[in-house]
Order: sequence, then structure tokens, then C-alpha cells
Amino acid sequence: MKYLFANWKNALTIDESVALAQQVVQLTIPPDVCLVLFPNAAALSQVKEAVGGKIVLGGQDLDAVRNFQGTYVLIGHSDRRKAGDTDEIVAEKMKKAVAAGIIPVLCVGETKEVASALRGLAPSEFFIAYEPVWAVGTGKNAPAEMVNEARIVIDSIISQILPETTWHFIYGGSVNAENVASYTHLPSVPGVLVGGASTTLESLRGVLGAL
Ligand code: PGA
Repeated sequence: MKYLFANWKNALTIDESVALAQQVVQLTIPPDVCLVLFPNAAALSQVKEAVGGKIVLGGQDLDAVRNFQGTYVLIGHSDRRKAGDTDEIVAEKMKKAVAAGIIPVLCVGETKEVASALRGLAPSEFFIAYEPVWAVGTGKNAPAEMVNEARIVIDSIISQILPETTWHFIYGGSVNAENVASYTHLPSVPGVLVGGASTTLESLRGVLGAL
């Protein structure tokens, strides 16, 4: 399975989010691809209506995801850390998401953020998105070798603290149609979290086609 997580953040208005979601529903998604849309919290309910259960949804805000019965939630994204989410808050949100039956996508800018975020977490399914802060929204994507090395470090952290858990590793930070395959063609990086390049149909389709 390959994961394509489209993080629309605040890039689109509600109307734009609904319009794009309606177009995304028309795309042919290969059976080995898991596409998840992460609209802005304000757009979540209308996007849910627009996709009519045909596309899995997540969000950036745990309460919004809970209210609209989304499947995934982003936790620890650099936007939120900048806005004040500490390591403790991130760890609390991880536990809350799991308790609510929502699959967390833990975003870390550095591998050292992993252990504290997982503190006290029961074995559960989650994702870890490795997103160096300098790569998010800058057009400077991280070299695949660096991402692979982060995967190795995170593997060893998780095998020590949560050996029983099911988790998936993805990369995020300036992913686009040109560079996505450098990650997803590595067995160690089965997916990507895409911001800017997921906010138009054309660029999202490009990433999907090159996965
Ligand atoms: P970007 O955003 O693809 O625009 O760098 C990634 C993210 O915000 O997760």
C-alpha cells in the first residue's frame, strides 16, 4: 500500500475545498493507493458531504475530526508546534486520538521528537510523518537518503518503546510530482504527506501518477 495524504491546511477556502473534493472523487485511484484528504477544519463537514464516503478524510484538528467522524488526524505538525503545541501537548493529543478511535499521523521535524510524543501511548495503529521544518512549504525537499536514515532511527526508537504496535512511515516537505518517486520507490518510505502540491487537481493528479 502507498499512502498519499493531502494536507490542504488553510490554502483553500471552504468553497474551493468542496470544488476540489468533487474533482478528486472523479479520479481513478489505484487499488494499492490510500488517498486521504485533510481539509481545513471549517471545510471538513462540507467536504465530507462532497465525497460521499468515497474518499477517506482526516483533519488538522482533533475536535473537528471527532465531530465529523474523520479517520485520521495530524498531530504535531510544524504549523501547530509553531503556534504553541509543546511535546507534552503532542503526547496528550496522541493519546486522545487513539482513545477516540482516530488514527494519528504524528508529524516530527526531527527524530528526537518521536519518543516524547509516544510516551504513555497504548499499542495502536499510527503514522509518523518525518517533515524537517526547513522542507515544509519551502520548495526544498529533503534528500531521499536523509529520509531513509530518519526511518532507520525511528524504527529503532519504536522497537524499543512500542514493539507491539503497527505503524507506517511517510515523508513530508515540498513533495511534488517530480520528486515523489524518489521517496515512494524506497520500500522504507511507503507514503507522503503533501501540502502545496495537493491543492490543485492538476498537481495532485501529478503526484498520484508518479507515486
Ligand atoms: P508542503 O507541506 O508539501 O507544502 O511542504 C507539507 C505539510 O505541510 O505537511
